[in-house]
Amino acid sequence: MTGRQYSTTDISAATFWEGTAEERERTFAYLREHEPVSWQRPIENAVAPDPEDRGWWAVVRHADISEVSTSSDVFCSGQGVMFDQLTPEFLEMTQSFLAMDNPRHNDLRKLVQAAFTPKRIRRIDDQVEQAAREVVDAFAGDPSGELEFVEGCASRLPLRMFSAMFGVPEHLQEQTAAAAQDIVSWADPEHLAGREPAQVQVEAAQTLHRIAAEIVADRREHPGDDLFTGLAQAEVDGQRLTDAEIGAFFVLLAVAGNDTTKHTSTLTVKHLTEHPDQRDWLAGDLEERIGTAVEEFIRYASPVMTFRRTATRDTELGGRPIAEGDKVVMFYASGNRDAEVFDRPEVFDLSREKNPHVGFGGGGTHYCLGNQLAKTMLRALFRQLLTRVPDIRVTADPELLGTNFIHGVKRQPVAFTPEAR
Ligand code: HEM
Repeated sequence: MTGRQYSTTDISAATFWEGTAEERERTFAYLREHEPVSWQRPIENAVAPDPEDRGWWAVVRHADISEVSTSSDVFCSGQGVMFDQLTPEFLEMTQSFLAMDNPRHNDLRKLVQAAFTPKRIRRIDDQVEQAAREVVDAFAGDPSGELEFVEGCASRLPLRMFSAMFGVPEHLQEQTAAAAQDIVSWADPEHLAGREPAQVQVEAAQTLHRIAAEIVADRREHPGDDLFTGLAQAEVDGQRLTDAEIGAFFVLLAVAGNDTTKHTSTLTVKHLTEHPDQRDWLAGDLEERIGTAVEEFIRYASPVMTFRRTATRDTELGGRPIAEGDKVVMFYASGNRDAEVFDRPEVFDLSREKNPHVGFGGGGTHYCLGNQLAKTMLRALFRQLLTRVPDIRVTADPELLGTNFIHGVKRQPVAFTPEAR
């Protein structure tokens, strides 16, 4: 450990994360080529700065990301999955099985897994389609032909589907989305508006726990056909889940389910604006091409930028010695531009046949539970957009969310020719 040199290519600076994805990619390209596993100083803009923090390993190549993801015995999640060493209480409260290791991870993941299988998702296809239609109904005929896309469209479909699956009543939906947003916006000065990042996160987590407790109490009295009812009745090792455990499930799924798909669709409208040839190709046979295209939407947007693991023993990665207890951070956006895996990775190519992107993680036990649902929502939304407001386009640069976790957009103005009513 001692004598280890920090990389001269510093990606811990807050300014690095304030830039655009294209700017960051220049640095990642350099690292992929010259220093695929690099030792970095402690991250700036930590939620909970830790004087004991020595630094972390940055993993930027596709193959190494896959290796870390699929070796969960060597690279564990149970000590946290963010840069920060969050307190065990906060981890308990917010991350549920995302920050657990097997067997507990599997026991808890299994409780909700059934709701997310491809078969179950296919069964709600019509519901997603209908919800997407209604989301687009709300603005497509607006004579102004203008919209702030994040609030007016992108956030709507994930919130509706998440709420329907969990059974979140209408009057609690906006509050749920706002609290989920607070949890991932700790490094964004505008969002914080002078508040302490840790305070914002704790308050948001408490709000989501309160909402979960209210709904669970109701479902114990009045069971329904939703995930909250399932969790209220579930047992692990003969034990009912506690309200705190159900609350943590809710926090994890509210954050994972709402934000990521919202940012993917917003960034995709920008990418389609910048690449009209790709939009035309897609619109040329939407039904046939949308499935392939959605994989490229995700690869190109890479909305989840990082997840961390911790080494459980001394090991080696990309020729570098990793010590037990070291933090190891994967950069999915960088893996998704790796020329070892992708032909012309910098090109937005919706017809890309071979597209083993790591947007949903590098495989292994924590691979995104919601990947089928996310893709179903994206297909449904872009079917609607590209048939009803096919010239929808961004009219200004996006206002980006300043964080080192989510490649997100706060606001994105768009324009379109209003649909004839
Ligand atoms: C485009 C949209 C999405 C992207 C890019 C995305 C990305 C990811 C990534 C990178 C991981 C971590 C994988 C790992 O560490 O190996 C993950 C995990 C997870 N995602 Fe997603 N996700 C998306 C949508 C969703 C949706 C819609 C849901 C649920 C409603 C969801 C639920 C989860 C859950 C529960 C986990 C934790 C899995 C575990 O630890 O076992 N995600 N996601």
